[in-house]
Amino acid sequence: MEKVLVNLAYLLAASLFIFGLKGLSHPKTAVRGNMLGALGMFIAVVVTLLDKRIVDFSVIIAGLIIGALVGVILALKVEMTAMPQLVAIFNGLGGGASTLVAGAALYEAQNPDYLLTTASVASGIIGAVTFFGSMVAFGKLQGLVKERPFRYPGEQVVKALFGLGALALGAYIVLNPESVNLYWAVVLISSVLGVLLTVAIGGADMPVVIALLNSYSGLAAAATGFVLQNNALIISGSLVGASGIILTNLMCKAMNRSLLNVLFGGFGEVAKTEEEDIYAGKVKATSPEEVALLLEGARRVVIVPGYGMAVAQAQYAVRDLYNLLESKGVEVEFAIHPVAGRMPGHMNVLLAEVDIPYDKMKELEEANPTFEQTDVVIVIGANDVVNPLAQTDPKSPIAGMPVLEVWKAKTVVVIKRSLSPGFAGIPNPLFAMDNTLMLFADAKKAVQEIVNSLKES
Ligand code: TAP
Repeated sequence: MEKVLVNLAYLLAASLFIFGLKGLSHPKTAVRGNMLGALGMFIAVVVTLLDKRIVDFSVIIAGLIIGALVGVILALKVEMTAMPQLVAIFNGLGGGASTLVAGAALYEAQNPDYLLTTASVASGIIGAVTFFGSMVAFGKLQGLVKERPFRYPGEQVVKALFGLGALALGAYIVLNPESVNLYWAVVLISSVLGVLLTVAIGGADMPVVIALLNSYSGLAAAATGFVLQNNALIISGSLVGASGIILTNLMCKAMNRSLLNVLFGGFGEVAKTEEEDIYAGKVKATSPEEVALLLEGARRVVIVPGYGMAVAQAQYAVRDLYNLLESKGVEVEFAIHPVAGRMPGHMNVLLAEVDIPYDKMKELEEANPTFEQTDVVIVIGANDVVNPLAQTDPKSPIAGMPVLEVWKAKTVVVIKRSLSPGFAGIPNPLFAMDNTLMLFADAKKAVQEIVNSLKES
């Protein structure tokens, strides 16, 4: 009877996860979705703790207190712009925990059957790849490790050897369950594989890797669910694995990459184009007052936010600009690139935070055909997502990535502090185009000054 109740509670938790995920698919319902998911996880944790197989609560309670403290501090302290690094750590810890738990279960089992050994080995391999891959991704995003992809002759063969080695040793454990000590050798080989796989990726492909590692952490958890025969873990792990792979797919589409190319190709390498070559004598600087004058005469304005808007926390000033222009009868829309910023939905979250209506936020496919009818595009701290090289230079690391074709508008105003490149590390010919004006300033300060000038006029 007790088992029935436990499984019913797990079913409730799983339903909450699914409704939570559904809610997360739209900014309007995302907060509720998050709460539902958290409630589901709370139920799953409490029920698991009350399950009578638990003999000693002291270590668990200590772990809960430390984990909760670290979680709350991180949630309060971490900047929105550092979110991908945080997600990388979360993924990594999930994978690491799965590996350790599966290993412990394998050691504890007297006569492990095929299911237990197979699931443990799967968890060990995927979890270790996830942990070490995520740590490298964290290091790259945090600037602790060289961001550029580390490539060397024969790297695919080396990676294949490590992958096959882990699988072969894993198969040996499944066939010879008494050789349980080899589990840690599998984990070691997989750890090196995790490092090798991630150091080879860099540049604009990092977001895809984070999404993929997220999926791996779910798969590792699901495998551990089979080891522990825990339905909640199997279901939640599968949901993370599936949603992670869907997100990976969406990111690949947004950047026109195939997953295999991201994992094994040479993308992310930085093109060697001389900055002086494309900018020399062609860049026109402007002032907030001049931009305000331009906006006074505009009928349709499109704002393109990017990573710099997040860094400057300029969204409140952008909201003031939006309200002011609308009150003057100007049609204003936002064009949002799927990988603008540093995490999926980054720009949507910031704009929703300041109550920009959802119907004003246009996706790339919707926005691109409208630029020709747009008087002024204001690019605020965006760079790679408006770089025409994606369409014109097949050697560029962002070649083929769909971009916002802002240059088709009558005038483009780009607000950024300098001519420095964005995430992909390449120059941007947009800055030197005839119809582009550069407003060199911090995004928040610049937008505030444009608002002030507009108010005075
Ligand atoms: P980026 O290409 O990274 O360009 C951001 C620009 O913002 C920089 O060129 C920088 O120029 C400017 N900036 C920084 N601080 C600023 C400030 N305080 N005020 C004004 N400008 C400031 O950004 P993007 O166009 O949003 O493209 C995103 C890139 O990140 C893509 O390459 C994407 O692949 C990658 N990425 C995306 C994600 C996701 S999932 N969204 C995750 C990881 C990586 P200055 O220094 O001259 O000011």
